[in-house]
Amino acid sequence: MAEWTKTSWQNFEALQQPNWPDKKAYQKAVDTISLLPPLVFAGEIRALKQQLADVVEGKAFLLQGGDCAEDFTNCTAPAIRDTLKVILQMAVVLSYAGGKPVVKVGRMAGQYAKPRSADMETIDGVSLPSYRGDMVNASEFTEAARVPDPQRMVQGYHLSAATMNILRAFTRGGYAALERVHAWNNEFVKASPMGRNYERLGRHIDQALNFMRVIGIDTNAPQLNQASFYTSHEALLLGYEQALTRQDSITGDWYDCSAHMVWIGDRTRQLDGAHVEFLRGVLNPVGMKVGPKHDLEVIRQLIERINPENEPGRMTLITRFGKDIDKYLPGLIRMVKREGFKVVWSCDPMHGNTYTSESGYKTSNFNDILNEIQCFFEIHWAEGTIPGGVHFEMTGSNVTECIGGGRNIIDQNLAENYLTACDPRLNAEQSLELAFQIAEMIRT
Ligand code: PEP
Ligand code: CO
Repeated sequence: MAEWTKTSWQNFEALQQPNWPDKKAYQKAVDTISLLPPLVFAGEIRALKQQLADVVEGKAFLLQGGDCAEDFTNCTAPAIRDTLKVILQMAVVLSYAGGKPVVKVGRMAGQYAKPRSADMETIDGVSLPSYRGDMVNASEFTEAARVPDPQRMVQGYHLSAATMNILRAFTRGGYAALERVHAWNNEFVKASPMGRNYERLGRHIDQALNFMRVIGIDTNAPQLNQASFYTSHEALLLGYEQALTRQDSITGDWYDCSAHMVWIGDRTRQLDGAHVEFLRGVLNPVGMKVGPKHDLEVIRQLIERINPENEPGRMTLITRFGKDIDKYLPGLIRMVKREGFKVVWSCDPMHGNTYTSESGYKTSNFNDILNEIQCFFEIHWAEGTIPGGVHFEMTGSNVTECIGGGRNIIDQNLAENYLTACDPRLNAEQSLELAFQIAEMIRT
């Protein structure tokens, strides 16, 4: 293989790239970003990798979640706080009821670029370029909105920085302290059966904290008052990722400092493609989506290419098989076992379960999502491997995008608050419900 540099991906074919109409403006935007500060630091990236190495061994559990596509107009303190709150709630449920530390990773602070199954979208006979995420174009169905605008990458950088900043403040500044578990319960979830289950669990934690104080243990420890929270997104726009790829002054290693973890999508993981070339050279934890249309031998070579040293924590396989999980997962697990690859196994139960409802919305059914997770655990148990984590599209707001769950959203309800620009997300209550179910699985 030729030597890796942060630009060597440019010698390979990059799929799913926008057709930037103004090449000069594109270069200028990338150059601007390359001079701006990194969004995360190498030391933090290494800390996440260490925690993911614990997940490989079954000593911790990975919870990764957030929007399918973050929305520029949703970069507000309440929206970020609400999603963070649900992730913290889920993590508390998983760690308290499931009995394992939880590694929390948001699809946040940079999840602004989307791969699409078609280059064009046609509505009522009008064809326009597909929406590719807010960092590329706008989702409105007008010709002007759909033109890729490289200035959006610069804006995406700044909004990622703003998101990162408030996430750091919330997680380090006392908001994530365990004595505030009750404050993370959303008003509209509180009265639901899930919200009440959660309140009960919160009371147990209060009692445990009180007991610690009574017997003289210092409850000011950072473990009780701060949360480690990491960011992630799909590394899709390689010019943007390259611009934020920096050499660590301590080790001389290269890191993609746009997020702690980056992943490669099911549509861009070609062995001879630019995305794989780029990701093999940065030392971040890397996720790889694996859907039904995979070739086992290609996956084997991809893991070898991206993680040649077989470093635990470097590689997370995010499987997204939908109803056919029992057809595909056992074979994949056996190949990985045979090769001795050290990977985190994570289940994305969202992308293999979407369909168009009768009323015309792209949706998923809560039961299908739960079923895929259940099968994921059972198959790993049967194969003797570790079901290490889950990957969700979810939000803290009260959306109606997925059917089912405790409040039993039906097709007719989808129109009430369907806000996603891309795939359907679990709402706060549905997310919490899943966390309780998964906690049961982790405990066994
Ligand atoms: C996604 O995670 O939003 C996505 C596009 O996933 P996949 O690559 O698995 O289709
Ligand atoms: Co999605």
